[in-house]
Amino acid sequence: MSESNSPRPLGVGLISAGWMGRLHSRAYLAMRDKYSDLGVAPELIIVADPVTSNAIEFQEHFGFKVVTDDYRAVLGHPDVDVVSICAPNYLHRDFAVAAAQAGKPFWIEKPMGISRAQSADIVAAAQANGLPTCVGFTYRGAPAIVRAHDLLRSGALGAITNVHVKLNADYSADPTGPRTWRFVRETGGSGVLGDLLSHGFDLAQYLTGSPIAEVSALISTFIDQRPAPGGGTGHQVHAAPDAAMLPVENEDYASVIARFASGVVGTFESSRVAVGSRCDYGVEVHCTGGAIRWNFERLNELDICAGDTLRDYGYTTEMSDERFGDFARFQPGAGMGLSFDDLKVIEGSQFVRSVLTHTQLAPSVADGLAAASTVDAALRSASSATWVKVPAPNAGTTFED
Ligand SMILES: NC(=O)c1ccc[n+]([C@@H]2O[C@H](COP(=O)([O-])OP(=O)(O)OC[C@H]3O[C@@H](n4cnc5c(N)ncnc54)[C@H](O)[C@@H]3O)[C@@H](O)[C@H]2O)c1
Repeated sequence: MSESNSPRPLGVGLISAGWMGRLHSRAYLAMRDKYSDLGVAPELIIVADPVTSNAIEFQEHFGFKVVTDDYRAVLGHPDVDVVSICAPNYLHRDFAVAAAQAGKPFWIEKPMGISRAQSADIVAAAQANGLPTCVGFTYRGAPAIVRAHDLLRSGALGAITNVHVKLNADYSADPTGPRTWRFVRETGGSGVLGDLLSHGFDLAQYLTGSPIAEVSALISTFIDQRPAPGGGTGHQVHAAPDAAMLPVENEDYASVIARFASGVVGTFESSRVAVGSRCDYGVEVHCTGGAIRWNFERLNELDICAGDTLRDYGYTTEMSDERFGDFARFQPGAGMGLSFDDLKVIEGSQFVRSVLTHTQLAPSVADGLAAASTVDAALRSASSATWVKVPAPNAGTTFED
């Protein structure tokens, strides 16, 4: 093979070696195989985490060349072309703004910061520096969601009337689980609104092609105290023996009704303490001539009701196959499914393609701000018991038609 056909190196810097840091690292490594058409060979250059053992494990496992406890060393490293920001929410704003000022395109996890204001700072910094970005709205890349998006856009199902989104999980259902950063306002921001419903608001906007314009919400906290954390990092944090009980500062549950700018209406529900629901993350879109229904627990399937003669039969289930989205890059045919980790590879490839083509293809920071604006409006609605308008999205969203 001539040298010109060899993939060129793309230097990767990673901030935070937790669960999402692991998935971003795997995604970069998988890209050379699954997305060889990108023409790049991502190289894991440097990983930053104040828990040195986490960073060293990543060096040993994934092959990062340098380990540091300071995110600034990642942004200042001359071989770093792109940066992944996988830190807890309260660190997103400072890390993303610094990455933008250093001229490094970044792939940042959702929610983008702990407030709408923090998300807006991130958008301003990225746009001032003209940088492609990516926000971890992972479900958009599922081949069944791409199929649903294309069906809805084709007009084959008629006009969209209403959307129902649920994101019910039991990851915090155990009341003896410790009060990690996720349950504290200063570090997590909101509860399920930011953690889960930011995905739901984005998915609904992506599928309908319209921003959410107005919301009415209620929130509740079912487990209002948790034991102080006693040790461990990331998802292995455990409660201290005889731990003091500390207040949970954000919501376990949220329910939101919404009007979209297009006139579509929607309902959203999310709980992180939903006993019985593992990752019951679903979206259903009803139209005048059909409907689609998808659930993350069966992410390779799409329920479709379509066509004048078929609609009386209700939904039929279609398995994803090589015709839809990026399925063919992972599997040769229907029945062999993609996983959550594969969705992160798809997301990462959209980020890298955005960087290489200087075109925003991945979910953008403006999309991140649109979701944060809806979260913010929902929180204000819940405290005022009134409908609250969501500000119109900034330029640069990728979901609008
Ligand atoms: N896209 C998705 O579906 C998805 C799923 C899970 C989590 N997330 C998001 O990813 C982010 C990280 O979540 P996680 O589950 O990986 O958390 P985690 O707790 O597993 O990892 C967080 C890591 O950040 C490190 N850290 C703490 N302070 C730091 C600092 N000052 N500098 C650098 N690193 C620091 C911790 O030591 C830890 O290794 C959150 O914003 C979360 O909302 C997104």
